[in-house]
Amino acid sequence: MTKTSSFRAPKGVPDYVPPVSAEFVAVRDGLVHAARLAGYGHIELPIFEETALFKRGVGESTDVVSKEMWTFADRNGDSFTLRPEGTAGVMRSVIQNGLDRGALPVKLCYAGPFFRYENPQAGRYRQLQQVGIEAIGIDDPALDAEVIAVADAGFRTLGLTDFRLEITSLGDDTCRPQYRELLQEFLLALPLDEETRRRAQINPLRVLDDKRPEVKEMTANAPLMIDHLSESAKSHFEQVLGYLDGLGVRYVVNPRMVRGLDYYTKTTFEFVHDGLGAQSGIGGGGRYDGLMAELGGQPLSGIGFGIGVDRTVLALAAEGKTAVTAPRIQVFGIPLGDIAKSRLVALAGELRAAGIPTDIAYGGRGMKGAMKAADKSGARLALVLGDREVADGEIGLKDLGNGEQRQLPLDEVVAQVTAFLAGQQD
Ligand code: HAM
Repeated sequence: MTKTSSFRAPKGVPDYVPPVSAEFVAVRDGLVHAARLAGYGHIELPIFEETALFKRGVGESTDVVSKEMWTFADRNGDSFTLRPEGTAGVMRSVIQNGLDRGALPVKLCYAGPFFRYENPQAGRYRQLQQVGIEAIGIDDPALDAEVIAVADAGFRTLGLTDFRLEITSLGDDTCRPQYRELLQEFLLALPLDEETRRRAQINPLRVLDDKRPEVKEMTANAPLMIDHLSESAKSHFEQVLGYLDGLGVRYVVNPRMVRGLDYYTKTTFEFVHDGLGAQSGIGGGGRYDGLMAELGGQPLSGIGFGIGVDRTVLALAAEGKTAVTAPRIQVFGIPLGDIAKSRLVALAGELRAAGIPTDIAYGGRGMKGAMKAADKSGARLALVLGDREVADGEIGLKDLGNGEQRQLPLDEVVAQVTAFLAGQQD
């Protein structure tokens, strides 16, 4: 009897194994590529940071900080937290490394795991993967549009189509405080339960995100930020929409959008995919003009997004599409004998060096088992080599598409295989 391990990945933490792992990599790299095309350079951030960074940056009243952080004390008793998101860490790094004193905007892109202690379900994980970009230091509506267009282009080049971009403005320092008061006044006049009243006092915007039908009904006529924007915030928002029109990025204005992080100002947006059930947000972001100053840096503006790689993989699957373009195995070597094996091992090296993805039937499986493995690999060609053929300087080339096999000189394999595969691509 085979022993099965009782070890399991932690709850809510996905593994990516073949074939889905190829999808994962293609999605992540495709999104990063879209960012590179707009000049975003790579930033590699620590997986954990001082807890205070996230408390200050993301906001103590958010669920992310108050309920979902993975926080631990190190041996010294200092408190650290596994990063729940990327923006606060990017800001810390930009300040620490003085990038804010160089050419602006600073344009950065990151990819990797983030950690939130959430109730796991389909598309909602405790270790989640994001690709994110941040553009720091220039307050220009055209930059907002660029950031949004990078996300949109990233999704589209992966082949995703059934998503929509929702966008709104959360106002700025000059209009948000008044709006907040107005909303609070409206909410506190409603017959809300205690807990919701408390929320209305701490973060009234969040009440607009309440999914309960009775609360939704009560807040249907709540005042909306978009109707109370300052002249400058209004003009900024209109310009963003204008640039998006110019870029051909379609959007829906959703004035009731509520983001889960406190640092947002002005433009905020979310990409929503309807094939995912409850966890429909495949990416989101916005401006955070007060964040750098809040973290002790210069008062520089910023805008960015985080895209959920896990959810984008699920969204592609829901659309029945694949993002994988990376080469699968094309050639499969089948050695029949020890001398043939030595020759094929070396030949596989030559084929790979010529850029042709190649695998071999290891373990002396014999013709039948080896052919099965060749089929399973998805290869288009098999190279069949016996010891006697090595002596004759020949090798069998089998087209796995139509089963035809022919002999060719061993020293022509790389050239002929290359020509065959090039011919198939046309
Ligand atoms: P966020 O909306 O919290 O924003 O996360 C961005 C994306 O990460 C979400 O749209 C979703 O696709 C994915 N995501 C979040 N939580 C989970 C989870 N538990 N499981 C699976 N996927 C998840 C941010 O994190 C901001 N830092 C984005 C940003 C960058 N804003 C400005 N710059």
